Amino acid sequence: MLLPLLTVTEIGYYSIQIFSIEDNLKMSTLLHRFFFGKPTRNIINSILLLCFCGLASAQDGTAQQKVTANAGSLSGNWAVKVPKADGTNQWAYFNLTQDGSKITGSIRVTQFYYTISESTGGAESFTITGTMRDGKSDRTVKYEGKLMGDELHLSTRRRPEDKPTESIAKRVPDGEGAMPARLPLPALHKVPYNGLAKSPPMGWNSWNKFKSGVNDQVVREIADAMVASGMKDAGYQYINIDDTWESERDAKGNITSNKKFPDMKALADYVHSKGLKLGIYSSPGPNTCAGYEGSFGHEEQDARTFAAWGIDYLKYDWCGARNLYTDEEMPAVYQKMGDALLATKRPIVYSLCQYGRLDVWKWGADVGGNLWRTTGDISDRWDSMTRIGFGQNDLAPFATAGHWNDPDMLEIGNGAMTDAEYRTHMSLWALLAAPLLAGNDLRDMTSATKDILLNREVIAVNQDKGARQGKRVSQSGDQEIWVRELADNDLAIGIFNRGSASADVIVRWVDIGVKRKVKRVRDLWEKKDVKVDDPAYKLTVPSHGVVLLRVNK
Ligand code: GLA
Repeated sequence: MLLPLLTVTEIGYYSIQIFSIEDNLKMSTLLHRFFFGKPTRNIINSILLLCFCGLASAQDGTAQQKVTANAGSLSGNWAVKVPKADGTNQWAYFNLTQDGSKITGSIRVTQFYYTISESTGGAESFTITGTMRDGKSDRTVKYEGKLMGDELHLSTRRRPEDKPTESIAKRVPDGEGAMPARLPLPALHKVPYNGLAKSPPMGWNSWNKFKSGVNDQVVREIADAMVASGMKDAGYQYINIDDTWESERDAKGNITSNKKFPDMKALADYVHSKGLKLGIYSSPGPNTCAGYEGSFGHEEQDARTFAAWGIDYLKYDWCGARNLYTDEEMPAVYQKMGDALLATKRPIVYSLCQYGRLDVWKWGADVGGNLWRTTGDISDRWDSMTRIGFGQNDLAPFATAGHWNDPDMLEIGNGAMTDAEYRTHMSLWALLAAPLLAGNDLRDMTSATKDILLNREVIAVNQDKGARQGKRVSQSGDQEIWVRELADNDLAIGIFNRGSASADVIVRWVDIGVKRKVKRVRDLWEKKDVKVDDPAYKLTVPSHGVVLLRVNK
């Protein structure tokens, strides 16, 4: 009678999932009672025990067959489970078939699903290489491993120079972790404009600074700081929670938040009570970029959940959708959520994030988008910020009121650039009519960071009601002049110096579209009017710096 029990505890992961430690404790109690309990209870106990043992043997039988059949072989479905502090688990699945020295199958890890294209060795020591098509490029992952008992010991490196990441996979039932099949996509139609984001959205987003460290308390404190710092008064409004808030779906398929966010509705109420708005993040794929639950197959349901929580902004990030759909299918995929958000009747800003693929600026508005990311991820580095910021010139015609190019969130105040570089960042984003989503810790800002984020005259350029995105008008070596046409006959002019030494620059008004004598020129960082020597203005721009002027012509 005890045998099935012992086997249950020995057969590893598969059965542990079915009979947790708690189950085994309950089982011991049951056995104890069966042999030593009161006679009146013994009848019930024996029935229970027989059922339990029967179930255990049945499960054990299945699992043992699986194990026996595959003993010494890599064939089978394997999973690595890494529990996280937020109460969720990060899973990686290895679905392997070993045929002599050939290993085939798939690898599913976070947002990626690879097909094994190459292998070497066998159970004692092997390598598997997974590849996947991602838009126009290929992705590859390589694992080394060995079978030890009935555990798969694996190691991988993101880059050859990185230290290996080690993990242990255990057998799981067939089908667990399988990539879902793609769902049919709707025919394309024009999603009506939701009337939001008439000027580029302003606010804060958790990702750049906090990554998975964002939680309810951080969000509340950031909302407090947005008010206390004066940012709210300066126009910042959205508090956007990025990836890692998600947990699993409940029995009805509703998305739930993980331990870091005990009550999303209460959090939204709090943020609203400060006169601010709350944003959230999801993906059209089964997984988000950080491997959390995405909205795939639950688009309408999630939109309704977000609306019920009081969400005002959704960033919708391609991520795991790359395994199911091609880039050409992006418009239909994004349209699905665009329609779903509209159907909630709640005003929710819709932010598309698919890294600028398939010329999103040409169709983002048609699928209901208020803004669309035009590039890969920004980082807090001069080369990253400038590559992105100065790379936006051709997209100017696609920005209109309610529909913005999004060169990614701000890094101002995150510490790895100088104040001059952060002024360049803010100036460029203002000229580009880019969303101003601060990405730093608003609770802890230097006065220089505040001066940059709170410069109202620069913000006014960003928010200008003319809604025209600026363009480069001249470039000479490391110096570039960008101009944004503003409402009321004004121009914003950014004179940038990307070089490593300060540079003298002459701005000839006629070259930048000022035909007549300029009336007033204001230096927006110096916060003062400047006297100009008509017909040109001579100035010195510090290394990696900018002079930002507002000219009334
Ligand atoms: C992608 C996005 C980022 C951020 C992360 C979260 O990389 O481009 O902005 O949202 O996912 O996982």
